Formats: sequence, structure tokens, C-alpha cells
Amino acid sequence: MEESARTVLDFSSDVVISLHSWQRRTPLPEELFERAALDPAEFWLRVAHQVIEWIEPPTQSLQWNPPSSGSLPPWVAWFADGKLNVAQNCIDRHVRTWRRNKAAIIWEGEPGDTRVLTYYDLYREVQRCANMLRSLGVSKGDRVTIYLPLIPEAAIAMLACARIGAVHSVVFGGFSAEALRDRINDSQSTVLITADGGWRRGAIVPLKRNADEALRQCPSVRHVVVVQRGVMESDNVPMQEGRDHWWHQLMTHSDVTCPCVPLSSEDPLFILYTSGTTGKPKGQLHTTGGYLTGVTATTQWVFDIADEDVYWCTADVGWITGHSYVVYGPLANGATVVMYEGAPDYPDRDRWWALVEKYGVTIFYTAPTAIRTMMRWGEEYVQRHDVSSLRLLGSVGEPINPEAWMWYFTHVGGRRCPIVDTWWQTETGAIVIAPIPGRTALKPGSATFPLPGYRAVVLDEAGSPVPAGERGYLVLEQPWPSMSRTIWGDPERYVQTYWARYPGKYLTSDAATCDQDGYFWLLGRTDDVLNVAGHRISTMELESVLVEHPAVAEAAVIGRSDAIKGQVPVAFVTVRESHRNELPEIGEELKQYVTERIGAVARPAEVHVVVELPKTRSGKIMRRLLRDIAEGRVLGDTTTLADPAVVEQLKEKYRGEE
Ligand code: WT7
Repeated sequence: MEESARTVLDFSSDVVISLHSWQRRTPLPEELFERAALDPAEFWLRVAHQVIEWIEPPTQSLQWNPPSSGSLPPWVAWFADGKLNVAQNCIDRHVRTWRRNKAAIIWEGEPGDTRVLTYYDLYREVQRCANMLRSLGVSKGDRVTIYLPLIPEAAIAMLACARIGAVHSVVFGGFSAEALRDRINDSQSTVLITADGGWRRGAIVPLKRNADEALRQCPSVRHVVVVQRGVMESDNVPMQEGRDHWWHQLMTHSDVTCPCVPLSSEDPLFILYTSGTTGKPKGQLHTTGGYLTGVTATTQWVFDIADEDVYWCTADVGWITGHSYVVYGPLANGATVVMYEGAPDYPDRDRWWALVEKYGVTIFYTAPTAIRTMMRWGEEYVQRHDVSSLRLLGSVGEPINPEAWMWYFTHVGGRRCPIVDTWWQTETGAIVIAPIPGRTALKPGSATFPLPGYRAVVLDEAGSPVPAGERGYLVLEQPWPSMSRTIWGDPERYVQTYWARYPGKYLTSDAATCDQDGYFWLLGRTDDVLNVAGHRISTMELESVLVEHPAVAEAAVIGRSDAIKGQVPVAFVTVRESHRNELPEIGEELKQYVTERIGAVARPAEVHVVVELPKTRSGKIMRRLLRDIAEGRVLGDTTTLADPAVVEQLKEKYRGEE
């Protein structure tokens, strides 16, 4: 077991004791839970009936043909004969009750502008937007790309797609024009929804400008809808006649009534791109009934959302966390959701806590990297505000180290609030391993147990469960409703990435260990995917961008541990003879190049120009060695190196730059 895991098992007992008084606000379906392990398919069907308003309730639960090489989807269907609409579940069913004028979204822009949308407001806006999309030729099954700041229109656009059965593909506003272009082309979207720009740390993110650049090479896009976020004068936003339309103008002319289209449970809901082990992001396809069942149920179990709660998940809608736990899960539960557009340190480092105080946030969900950043800034920023409204804290994106856990627990939660450490992935759609607060005893640093209806195991190379305390591959042994159904346009890759290693079982690509008490401890990725500040960055994707630069001959990217971000990308490159005279500037230039090609999230922390990359005799780049060098560890066995002298050069080079 890893050192960090052991340390926290010795955790002082008062932590656990002080939580004994913590009470859930919502009841748990204990009777149902008891039967989950016996018959997961039956369990999920009952959950689906309980948490969802069906137009036609399903009688079927799971149909399962394990994905295998050469076979084509559908491999899995959940609730196949059920009919429903996600927007109806997130809006219409609440509008029929006292929640009609309840705040659905409390939004604050970075400059301090605010908007509150009630469920009734959302009802009208989403229907208008759905009609607007229809007027632009969008119908069931068509793809719509959404490239927006974190503003209510993002949720409205997503729900409008869901209402008419269009498939949304949200692209994070921090991504570059090229990343946007590739995602639009892969999904073949016909409509792009963007904004003039957004605010980030007082600066403008020029979304429309990026979009225009991307659209030069996106023949599928026929219409662009531009939200006026107001970051620049509208005269400064070039609008292409016939193609570009202002959101507010189309919306005013759109009818306010647009009935929900009844969709089959397995109709697609969205595509979301995520990094994998190749140069190309994978479009994860999520469908309707299973996804909504998964996110709605887990939101209840893990976040215990009740009507009196004010819930804030700090994620952007561009990530799966934003899809599942900013938009769909909380709204399906009729919650009040806080949304904040900007940076946590704008105008000062207390902005998040100012928001918690201002809106009386009760449930707060963020990432360990953010907590570590706040920890470094110091607790005085939290102490400036009354954050005593908080009653439950969440963590997601990477393992939360004990120091960060303790700081979060003590300074943010006032030692009153359980921390739910939630493990899941873009592919899983919903939380898989997490405590159920008020029921699960916490071990700081552990995501605790798989939720009811899931079977997680830790396997060795051969596929046998490893003994308690030993490291292995985290595998999910049975299908679950919110699982990704395929990779858009590349079903074989779906089979190979997730289902081929242990046939019929889902490979998570995470390492884990299970302790004597059955608690799961997540230990990071086992593939070439980095976790940078909770975001997935593919080393292959970075490498393929770097070698596109005219000066670069070869590139190898590794993840170096970082106290705040968890990991940061470090690039090693060799430079072409013809570009040798550019050496002094090349590092900065390549960092900038990556930022432009992918986005700032992928920007390498360091770029090292080396004479040669260390390779095995068979020509494979020795990444482990590069990692050891970057983290200053004693070098392991280098006898397989083709040219051991390379290592000495590398070490010298690395030291020279420190
Ligand atoms: C990868 C998935 C799930 C939404 C955010 C990221 C890591 C996620 C945890 C956690 C340890 C975690 C895993 C996983 N991860 N949550 N609580 N403890 N690791 O979604 O971008 O699809 O990334 O994030 O390595 O595989 P994603």
C-alpha cells in the first residue's frame, strides 16, 4: 500500500466521532440497497422507476452483450422499452409543483453581475431555445456543439437539446480554436452555440474569435448562435451574414412552447470528449434513461440534496462533472444550484467563500487541486467569511491527500461536515465509488466503497483479485446504467480501451488498493493519461502536437508530481538541425504552441531540449526514466538503454536548468 494511505489510517479518532451527530436530510432506500448486490439489474430498474418520471415506464432492465473485437454497438441497453425526456425530468416535473418559483440556478459572473433563474424561468428559456434550434434545422439525433463560458445559457442550451432529442457536445471554453475544430468535425455538428466571450481573472476569453478561427475548417456547421455575454461591444464581434445569429434576437422571436419529445431510453443524450492514450480525444457517448437514472440517484445518495439545500459544484459544464453534478443530477432533483463564472482569486482569494456566505451554500463540491491552492493561500481567506451554512463537502478528480483533506475538513467544514470523496470518470457518467454520508464511516483519503449497484474489484495482471492492501487494476465487473455506450465513430477503440484487457469487464485504467476493511484507495492512472489539476491530459496528444512544430524532431511527455496540481506535463524534445539557432526561445515557444493548439490546461510546465531521448534497443522511449529524472529520483535500471550516455546528458541538462 502507498505510504499516504497508511498515514491516514492512523487518523485521530475525534474526526470520526465529531461526525456522529451528522444527520441526513433525505432518507435512503435501505430496503432497495440490501438487494442491490443480489440482482443489480433488478435493483437499477427499481431505482429508475423511483427517481425518474417516465413517459412510458420500462419493463426491461439490462440487455448485455459484452463488447468484443469486431463487434458493433449496441452492446448494452438499459431500460430499453422505457420512454422519457431528460428536460421534462429536470424542469417540467418541478414546474408542476411548489418548486415552480424556486431558484433553479443562482448565477454570478466574475465581475459580480448576478442572475437567478427559477424553475419556471428555465421552463420558458429552455423551450424558447429548443424552438430556436428547431428553426435552425436541428432535429432529433443532430449534434449541437456548445462552446460557452459558465453562464446559464450553457445549461439552457444543453436542456434544450435534450428536450428535442438533439445530441449536445459541450467543449470547455478554455480549449483552443483547434481543439474546438477537431471536436466539431468529429461530431459533425450543424450548429455551434458560443458567446462573444467570457471573463477569467479579469481578462476576456475571446470565444467567438476562437470559434471563427475553428469554423474556417468546419464544413458541417451551418449556423452559429452567439450569446452576448457583454465582454465586448457588439460592433467588435464580426457576424457572418447568414451563418451567425445573436442568441437574444433569435430567442425573442422563438415561441415559448415546445413540448418534450418522448425519447427512447437508449437515444443519445450527449457526446463529451475526453483524453485517452492516443493523440485524438475520444467522444464518449452517453444515452438518456440510464444516464439520468445514474446521476439522479447518485446525487441523492451521495450529496443528500434536500429542498432546503443550496448546492454548489465548482466544475465547469465543459467537463463531465459539470454535466452530471452541475446540470443534470441536481436539476433532476429539483435543487437550487449555484454557478460561478470566474476564477477563485478574482478580485481576491476569498471569492469562493464570499459566494458561500452570500448565498448560504450548504453543499460544496470541488477538486483537491483547488483545496491545495486555497491551503497554500492560507485559511485567513476562509475566515473572512461566515461559511457555517455548509453541511457537506465533496471532492472529485484525483485522490485527496490527507493534508488537503484535513485542511478542507477543519477550515472549510468547521469539523462538522463529512467529506464525500467521489471516484468516477467521464466514461462512468456518474459517481461509482464514494461514501454515503450519514451511513458510511469515513477514512480520510479513501473514496470508501462502491455505491449500491456497482461491483468494483482490484485485479492483478492475470485477472485475479489481489490480496487486501495490494495494488492492482481497478475494474468494474458488471455494466451500470450511466456507462458510456461507445466512442463516437470509433467502436473498436471502445472495445480495445475498456473491454479487451479483462473480457466482459470494464477496465478503469486506474490503480487501486482495497484495505482489510474493504475501503478502496485510488492510486492514480495506469495509462499515459496525466491528471493535471483534475483534468485529463493525454501525453500522446501533447506529443503529437509538439512534433507538429517545425523545429521539433521528437517529443516525449511525462507527468511530474506537483504539490498543487497533482501532476504537471514536462516535455523532452529533440530539435531539428535546421532549427538549432532557435534554441534559446524554443521552450517558451513550445509552451505557447501547446496552449494555442490544445488550451492552457495542457501547457507544459517545463520543456527540455535534449540531444537525444532515452530509448530501449527496440526504440521505445523510456518514459519511466524521464519521470525519474524530472522528479530527481535515483535512476533505476538503465541497462536496456540503447545509449546509456543519453541519461547522463539528460541529468546534467536537467540540473543545469534548476
Ligand atoms: C479520472 C477520470 C470524475 C469527474 C472528474 C474527472 C481520476 C476522479 C477521483 C477520486 C481518485 C479520481 C481518476 C479517473 N479521479 N475522481 N475521487 N479519487 N482519482 O473525470 O476527466 O474523466 O477523469 O480522474 O484517475 O480515472 P475524468
